[in-house]
Amino acid sequence: MQIKRSKGSSRTKLLSLSSVFQELKTAMSSPSQPEVPAPLDNLEIQYTKIFINNEWHDSVSGKKFPVINPATEEVICHVEEGDKADVDKAVKAARQAFQIGSPWRTMDASERGRLLFKLADLIERDHLLLATLEAINGGKVFASSYLFDIAACIKALKYCAGWADKVHGQTIPSDGDSFTYTRREPIGVCGQIIPWNFPLLMFIWKIGPALGCGNTVIVKPAEQTPLTALYMASLIKEAGFPPGVVNIVPGYGPTAGAAISSHMDIDKVAFTGSTQVGKLIKEAAGKSNLKRVTLELGGKSPCIVFADADLDTAVEFAHNGVFYHQGQCCVAASRLFVEESIYDEFVRRSVERAKKCVLGNPLNTGINQGPQIDKEQHEKILDLIESGKKEGAKLECGGGRWGNKGYFVQPTVFSNVTDDMRIAKEEIFGPVQQIMKFKSLDDVIKRANNTSYGLAAGVFTKDVDKAITVSSALQAGVVWVNCYMMLSPQCPFGGFKMSGNGRELGEHGIYEYTELKTVIMKISQKNS
Ligand code: NAI
Ligand code: MG
Repeated sequence: MQIKRSKGSSRTKLLSLSSVFQELKTAMSSPSQPEVPAPLDNLEIQYTKIFINNEWHDSVSGKKFPVINPATEEVICHVEEGDKADVDKAVKAARQAFQIGSPWRTMDASERGRLLFKLADLIERDHLLLATLEAINGGKVFASSYLFDIAACIKALKYCAGWADKVHGQTIPSDGDSFTYTRREPIGVCGQIIPWNFPLLMFIWKIGPALGCGNTVIVKPAEQTPLTALYMASLIKEAGFPPGVVNIVPGYGPTAGAAISSHMDIDKVAFTGSTQVGKLIKEAAGKSNLKRVTLELGGKSPCIVFADADLDTAVEFAHNGVFYHQGQCCVAASRLFVEESIYDEFVRRSVERAKKCVLGNPLNTGINQGPQIDKEQHEKILDLIESGKKEGAKLECGGGRWGNKGYFVQPTVFSNVTDDMRIAKEEIFGPVQQIMKFKSLDDVIKRANNTSYGLAAGVFTKDVDKAITVSSALQAGVVWVNCYMMLSPQCPFGGFKMSGNGRELGEHGIYEYTELKTVIMKISQKNS
């Protein structure tokens, strides 16, 4: 692959999505901004094989699968298709690398941290290439991929690197003549199944904490988006991780993915994706070896706007909250509740805002909405839009496919949405905004919580009392007040109810990759 490196263009500044929105606006109004260089052209895809023991392998079956550019529907390349036999090979390598006495198990924790810092530096070096690859393979708007995704990967990895030598236990005043302490040990071999909406960021959210705590991993990227994960394999080798510590097996869910969740020699599985598959994974874990399971699943997150909120701020955050990355975000604000007295004006402004979206090839300057990931998602979204029309919601704008090539959907806004409609209940994962009306605080809390999901929520109000009352009452893993989608690696992330199990990142996310051991030593006399 020809790697052109941008000079002085890599930036690792933490970019929360709200600041990304601002940066994107600036970048788009002035395309020559040095912060967003042009994407690489003529990017040749070099890494298309299975990565085990720091080596590239063909699939055992000899099969390959096509990887599609969702903006053009053209095949980018073919990738080796991993299946159970390849997962078995990867597990053997990961188990070997985890053996007591292995280079990885005997490595100083600070050295593990150094390797992760090195990997973050390599991502920074290849920032432009990775951002381009994410845009081509995942349909991500390039400026957003460059400013948010890759910068957020570097931040998250450095956060985990810093933890590597800070994962420690406690001494405990246990009963009897004893000296008691706890150790946080790595769990072992971890299987990690990645979705296609944030292919690189979710890869980092998975491997960062796992490696920081001393585990070994088998990663299965989503079949739609394996390319940045495979590029990362080359950086993992270059950084100097011992063979077998990270293994990457591209392939399909029901084959390679299921082989991971039901494997008898994998100690933990971490998954981000649909609630439906999350259930299958937990079931497979239970039926096999009761491996530890963490899940980050779907959502139907409420965003509540009170009449006293700053309207411009609320309209902008609510818009980005659901339209960011074509609506393909687990935390998408896809149930927007607006107080009755400002409802009509809010709808008017939201429609005006949605009509400003510029669709097209995400590599092109000035584009802020790319394609949906694939045909299946495209059809699912169009079907849900049709259901909204049929069930009586008012279509304010959009409502169909955009263009005739690529999986684009017109930015769509529905008003007069009621809680029983499919568009108000099901995760759409597309650029479709549902605006509902509410009358009272008690009523809106009940309606917001009336869902099997519980990933995120937003509240817009200038009244602190209301903000605290509502954010305490909402059943969600994260509640944003007067903002939306602000994420950073120091904060735990995960869902209540059917939005998941466990947390990622933050101190709690790190501990999800440890087993807690208590050591009780008999001593002749307890210290006073
Ligand atoms: P999915 O849950 O099927 O795919 C996510 C990952 O799971 C992929 O790597 C896939 O290969 C793997 N997988 C699929 N079936 C599996 C199985 N039986 N065992 C183990 N792994 C398996 O999601 P899909 O079908 O791409 O999208 C369906 C819906 O899921 C979307 O419309 C959206 O509502 C939701 N979704 C939520 C995501 C999130 O960030 N929470 C990410 C992707 C999808
Ligand atoms: Mg699926």
